[in-house]
Amino acid sequence: MARHLITSAIPYINGIKHLGNLIGSQLPADLFARYQRARGNDVLFLCATDEHGTPAELAAAKAGKPVADYCAEMHKVQADIARRFRLSFDHFGRSSSPQNHALTQHFAGRLAENDLISEVSERQVYSIADGRFLPDRYIEGTCPNCGYDKARGDQCENCTKQLEPTDLIDPRSAVSGATDLEVRETRHLYLRQSALKDALNDWIDSKTDWPVLTTSIAKKWLHDGDGLRDRGITRDLDWGIPVRKGTEDWPGMEGKVFYVWFDAPIEYIACAAEWAEANGLTEADWQSWWRTDKGAEDVRYTQFMGKDNVPFHTLSFPATIIGSGEPWKLVDHLKSFNYLTYDGGQFSTSQGRGIFMDQALELLPADYWRWWLLSHAPENSDAEFTWDNFQASVNKDLADVLGNFVSRITKFCRSKFGEAVPSGGQTGAEEAAVVADLSERLDRYARFMEAMEVRKAAQELRAIWVTGNEYLQSVAPWTGIKSDPDQAAMQTRFALNLAHLFAVISAPFVPDASAKILTSLNVLEPIWPADLQEFLYTLGPDHPFTVPDVLFAKITDTQVEEWQARFSGGQSRKGAEGEAEALS
Ligand code: 2FM
Ligand code: ZN
Repeated sequence: MARHLITSAIPYINGIKHLGNLIGSQLPADLFARYQRARGNDVLFLCATDEHGTPAELAAAKAGKPVADYCAEMHKVQADIARRFRLSFDHFGRSSSPQNHALTQHFAGRLAENDLISEVSERQVYSIADGRFLPDRYIEGTCPNCGYDKARGDQCENCTKQLEPTDLIDPRSAVSGATDLEVRETRHLYLRQSALKDALNDWIDSKTDWPVLTTSIAKKWLHDGDGLRDRGITRDLDWGIPVRKGTEDWPGMEGKVFYVWFDAPIEYIACAAEWAEANGLTEADWQSWWRTDKGAEDVRYTQFMGKDNVPFHTLSFPATIIGSGEPWKLVDHLKSFNYLTYDGGQFSTSQGRGIFMDQALELLPADYWRWWLLSHAPENSDAEFTWDNFQASVNKDLADVLGNFVSRITKFCRSKFGEAVPSGGQTGAEEAAVVADLSERLDRYARFMEAMEVRKAAQELRAIWVTGNEYLQSVAPWTGIKSDPDQAAMQTRFALNLAHLFAVISAPFVPDASAKILTSLNVLEPIWPADLQEFLYTLGPDHPFTVPDVLFAKITDTQVEEWQARFSGGQSRKGAEGEAEALS
């Protein structure tokens, strides 16, 4: 039995995520986790909310709540939506957990002991009215280059010129609008990533099986960007993990917290500790997933994320792990995704453009979205969501192919033989041909799933469903039953077994439909087919079943028109005040 540690990039706490976020990490991670479990492997699938940083503080302020309360509430909201999307996390943790506090402080302490932390004195803008230092992007003013009056302290959005906050004319706080700003001296810790350049380079070079998207981004940042410049890992904020060296105070760092991007990936580890605590397990239990000196040497660790997250996961986080000098697991496989666009443009939280996870579930059950998103995953390039494409894919793949097959065969059997698998007849050449074809397809499907080739796996799965439909169409037991009832019974039995097969292997994509089919076929413990020939005899004569309710309803043109108009934008979503903590 293989052991798979799987993490999805942890979503920011502020606001509900859109479908682009979902397909960029959590959903494909869930597909892989479900697949590995179905194959009988041991899986620990972790995700959490990313709760620190200015965006969280600002979203809480806007909601009029203390930030800790805001995060606790939003964590529940996100956990509930994840559950309704059937994301099968073994634990959905929080980067603000005590476990993450301790581990983040531990790593910082280790890095300091290994001389990988330097202290740097900086001049930063302080807002007297707000009583806080302002990150560059929370300072606004007039661009000295083009005169745009809402330029940010890091860049002018209008003319794209990179700016320093001190370049801005009439600077003001984007938090409160206050203009009484001054430059103050402040000290910060820097992670000396540059000292780890060779180690990181060798490690990335050893990853010959990573997707090109992943390695090309890593290499770009490693070599020609300034991605490996030493990085500030502390901030002058109230909300976050207090800067400590292990369990000791860090002189000069009082009142400061770690930068959100320093503690967020450490939450992958902390989350395992949270999982253990929540399940009455021990430190040895969770460390057996994370420490190669404590049992994790046989664990295969796979991370899922959008491409914007790749630099942090191929350079900064590995720098933390390698720099600690301790035997924590490094990622074995990193699956990254391009972006999903919405009807010709970006999904946008601030403009309310596109579909958000909660809205999606108000329209249709999770399986419909899961199928479309996974079968159109932005793997090799960006992918575009359009309502027409969504409608076509749901109606054709799910309703006409999978749903129709199951409904047709169960209804036919009920009407001619009753609600139990019929006996009689012997399989012949037609069935043998289907078995041969499906065996090959099933192998390919398994290989794509193993390799996380999400789109190709979806295509293969669909082809498997189509094969079932074609078989039924070709043998047409509804015609043959008059002249040869035994033959028709055998064909019906074979097709019911195909429905069983489809339910088992489709579960990672459409778990609810799969569960419905299995319930109606009276299969209590689904088992992945080891030998297809044998598997297709599992439901033998007299095995009782019931006809399931409609598995997938077709999407109508009227619905498409209505939804298109409703989601075209114009209303900002909650949490839009800090879409992301930029790569800075
Ligand atoms: O881009 C994001 O949504 C980030 N919150 C991802 C963090 S992943 C990790 F490092 F924890
Ligand atoms: Zn400008």
